[in-house]
Amino acid sequence: MPESVNVEHIIEKYGGDREALVEILRDVSQANGYVTPEAMATIAQRLGLPQSRVYSVASFYSLISLKPQGKHVIRFCQDAPCHVAGGREIWETLERELGIPFGATTPDGMWTLLTTSCIGACSVGPVMMVDHEIYGNLTPDRVREILSQVGGGA
Ligand code: FES
Repeated sequence: MPESVNVEHIIEKYGGDREALVEILRDVSQANGYVTPEAMATIAQRLGLPQSRVYSVASFYSLISLKPQGKHVIRFCQDAPCHVAGGREIWETLERELGIPFGATTPDGMWTLLTTSCIGACSVGPVMMVDHEIYGNLTPDRVREILSQVGGGA
């Protein structure tokens, strides 16, 4: 469906309520991969908010993307409990295996590598989310396995 219809549909889902700005932006980001300037303009207009307000909220939350992302998005937890549980090794493994630094997307558009703050799974750290799935107790071998499963099965 064209993006504008999609955006309108999501705004409708929340009854055009400006209190739901974060949820609307998050849903648009998840549905389309990112939030375009046109989508932000539509949201601002329909909610009766200044575009600057929509932009500042959109750029604040890590789950809302303003740039095109890879087919699969990895969010690696960088908070202390996961770090203490061996996060550094996993961080290095992800960068090495994908050949990109955090914040980047692979040239083939397959993977985007991002960090996140705690996702509430500290007891099984180190932890990462791949798309909407949480993976815990990560080891370098387990990371390689997940990358090949998710990437290969795409
Ligand atoms: S600190 Fe990583 S999930 Fe909580």
